[in-house]
Amino acid sequence: MELPSACSHPGWFLLALLLGLLLWARRRRSWDPRKCPTDLSGKTVIVTGANSGIGKYVALDLARRNARTILACRNRERGQAAVEEIRAATGNPAVLLRLLDTSSLASTRLDVLVNNAGLTGLPFAITPEGLEQTFATNYLGPFLLTNLLLDLLKASAPARIVNVSSFRHSAGTADGRYLTGQQRPRSFDAAYNSTKLMNVLFTAELARRLQGTGVTANALSPGVVSTGIMRHFSWAVRALFALARPFMKSAEQGAISTIYCAVSEELSGVTGRYVDSECGLALPSAAARDAGLARKLWEESERLTGLTGGPRH
Ligand SMILES: *[C@@H]1O[C@H](CO)[C@@H](O)[C@H](O)[C@H]1NC(C)=O
Ligand SMILES: *[C@@H]1O[C@H](CO)[C@@H](O)[C@H](O)[C@H]1NC(C)=O
Repeated sequence: MELPSACSHPGWFLLALLLGLLLWARRRRSWDPRKCPTDLSGKTVIVTGANSGIGKYVALDLARRNARTILACRNRERGQAAVEEIRAATGNPAVLLRLLDTSSLASTRLDVLVNNAGLTGLPFAITPEGLEQTFATNYLGPFLLTNLLLDLLKASAPARIVNVSSFRHSAGTADGRYLTGQQRPRSFDAAYNSTKLMNVLFTAELARRLQGTGVTANALSPGVVSTGIMRHFSWAVRALFALARPFMKSAEQGAISTIYCAVSEELSGVTGRYVDSECGLALPSAAARDAGLARKLWEESERLTGLTGGPRH
């Protein structure tokens, strides 16, 4: 296939160069996990969606710091493959697979929970439990998992909860009716954006409820990352993304802000914050800072997941 002739125009070249330089300059400011000395010997961490993309690099980094690293995945084969790969790369034998659908996550302690699993491009569909599947996967699933693990996290304090959100939360709407499909988002893109807003709102409310427990909760954006999350898109959209790939972060680079929230000394004791893709504390959108909205969403989520009252602090 021939490239469109416009690509050979010097203007395009300059524009591409400028963009490249800009991204490079931004990246250089970012925090460097290799310079962070945090050691996690004797600690236990859980990373959801850890068999590919960002999650795998986060698990790899934490395993390298000697954490007992639990990869919570949905697919046994792919999960096991990631476990073998991380064990081989780090020499850490305490890298384990737990299938998310079972409740076998329990451990004697839990120091870091990374809610990374997320999907986009899923068609609108209602699960047998009466939940819309994108919202169930990206928001209510992690909501429930986190709540079920809260006592363990508190008993292990200081502990950290890290939520992978996205800068795309700013275009989202926290409409509780989305959760059950009573209200249908305009597109899967709108649905994804909304789940990411809910992630930030949840983090804020959770942090408020965890005040004084020694458990912190922060949300972050990995930036524009090229990962398997695009696998549900049509080939045309994927082809477009392929063209943009040189300007996007790799999964490994996209994992940095998550690792920052999980282990950096700078974030020790910091809670309820939103960390941008370059590891800076940032203000999320106005909707994401709406405490009333966060409380309403929490209560609706509790009702839908059958949790009878969360932690009160
Ligand atoms: C992350 O978000 C999920 C739902 O979006 C929530 O269940 C989980 O507790 C959140 N964790 C934090 C730190 O907000
Ligand atoms: C989702 O968020 C992105 C980034 O903010 C935005 O460009 C896109 O238009 C949003 N999609 C919808 C349907 O709101």
